[in-house]
Amino acid sequence: MATANPAEAPAAFLQIQDLVKDYDGYKAVNHVNLEVAQGEIFALLGSSGCGKSTLLRMLAGFETPSSGRILLAGRDLAGLPPYERPMNMMFQSYALFPHLSVWDNIAFGLKRAGLAKAQVGERVESLLKLVQLGKFAQRKPHQLSGGQQQRVALARSLARQPQLLLLDEPLGALDKKLREQTQIELVNIIEQVGVTCVMVTHDQEEAMTMASRIAVMSEGRFLQVGAPAAIYETPATRFVADFIGNVNLMDGTLDVDENDHCVIGSSDCRHYVGHGITGTPGMAVTVALRPEKIALSAEEPAGEFNKVRATVKELSYFGSYTLYQLALPSGALLKVSQSNTERQAGRAHTWGDSLWAHWSDTAQVVLTQ
Ligand SMILES: Nc1ncnc2c1ncn2[C@@H]1O[C@H](COP(=O)(O)OP(=O)(O)OP(=O)(O)O)[C@@H](O)[C@H]1O
Ligand SMILES: [Mg+2]
Repeated sequence: MATANPAEAPAAFLQIQDLVKDYDGYKAVNHVNLEVAQGEIFALLGSSGCGKSTLLRMLAGFETPSSGRILLAGRDLAGLPPYERPMNMMFQSYALFPHLSVWDNIAFGLKRAGLAKAQVGERVESLLKLVQLGKFAQRKPHQLSGGQQQRVALARSLARQPQLLLLDEPLGALDKKLREQTQIELVNIIEQVGVTCVMVTHDQEEAMTMASRIAVMSEGRFLQVGAPAAIYETPATRFVADFIGNVNLMDGTLDVDENDHCVIGSSDCRHYVGHGITGTPGMAVTVALRPEKIALSAEEPAGEFNKVRATVKELSYFGSYTLYQLALPSGALLKVSQSNTERQAGRAHTWGDSLWAHWSDTAQVVLTQ
C-alpha cells in the first residue's frame, strides 16, 4: 500500500493522509491513505455502501473530513470550498440541462466563470472535437444516445480544465454493451487531456479496463491497492480474491513450506505451489485458483499433486468460453472455464462426464487471511 511519508518518495500529485469520515459513530471512510501520481486514472472499487462516494465527495469539498488531510500538488485543501478547488466532479447521475443544447451545456460553466465570448467558443469547439460530438452541437440532450450524453457530461466536466477529475460511477446509466465501448472512449479522452482522474465504480471489469491502479474498498477501508493485473493475479486476502473475478477458494493446511515451494493439503487434493509463503506448517490457509487456470483431461495426469477427479455437474456456454461446474469427491464445486478457440469444435466434455481437473504450480495463490 502507498505510504504517506513524503521523505521517502517524491510528493505525489494527490495525497490522502489518514482520512476519516465519521457519521454519528459510523466510519464511512476509515483511516484511508493514498497517493495518486499526475496523469493517473485511479479507481475506487467496492460494493454498495463501502464509502466510495463519501471519499470522492471529501476530495471535491462537498463533505468535510472528520480527520486526516487531502493535499493536491502539495497544497492542503482543508477549508477550501468546492468551487475554489481545481477539480471537477461528475456525479453518479450526471444531469445535463435538458433545455440547453449540447453546445450550451458545455459552455455553461465557462460563461459563468466570466470567460470572454471568443474564448468560450474556442474552448467549446475543441471539447466537442475531443468527444467527437461536433455534429451534434445544436441538439438537446434527449436527442442523443446515452453514450453521447455521457460524453457531453465529460466535456462539461473538462471545460474549466480541472487538475483533478472526479468521476462517480461515470457509466452507471449505460447498458452493458454501450458501457464497454464508452469505457475505452473515456480513457482515450482522459489520457489525451492528461488530467489526473479518480473514479468510483462497483463494476470490477470497468475498474480493470479503465484504471492504471485500483483500490479495493470494503467498509470504509482500503483492502488492497495495486495495478489491475496485480490485484487479479495476487490478491492479498480472500475478500479481494473473491471480489475480483471468478475464483475457487479451497481451504487447507500447510504441510511443507520451503523457500522454493510449499505443499498444502485440502479435502480434495494436495497442492504443490512453486513458491514458499514463510508460514508455519500446520497453519490453516486458503488456496485461490482461477477457473481459467485449470485444465481438463479424460486421462489421469502424472504425479500426485495439483489434480482432482471430478464430475461435470453444470456447463454454461458463453460464446467465447464455456464455464463448467465440477463436483469434487468432497461434494465441493470447482469452477473451470475453457476458451472456445475452435469454431464448431463441439464441447469436449458434457454433463455427467467423469474427468480430471489439473493445474500448474504457478496457478495458485496461497491466502493466509
Ligand atoms: N450524509 C450521510 N449521513 C449518514 N450516513 C451516510 C451519509 N452519507 C453516506 N452515509 C453512509 O456511509 C456509507 C457509505 O456511503 P457511500 O455513499 O460513500 O457509499 P458508496 O460506496 O458510494 O455506495 P454506492 O455504490 O451505493 O453508491 C453508507 O453506509 C451510507 O449509508
Ligand atoms: Mg456512491
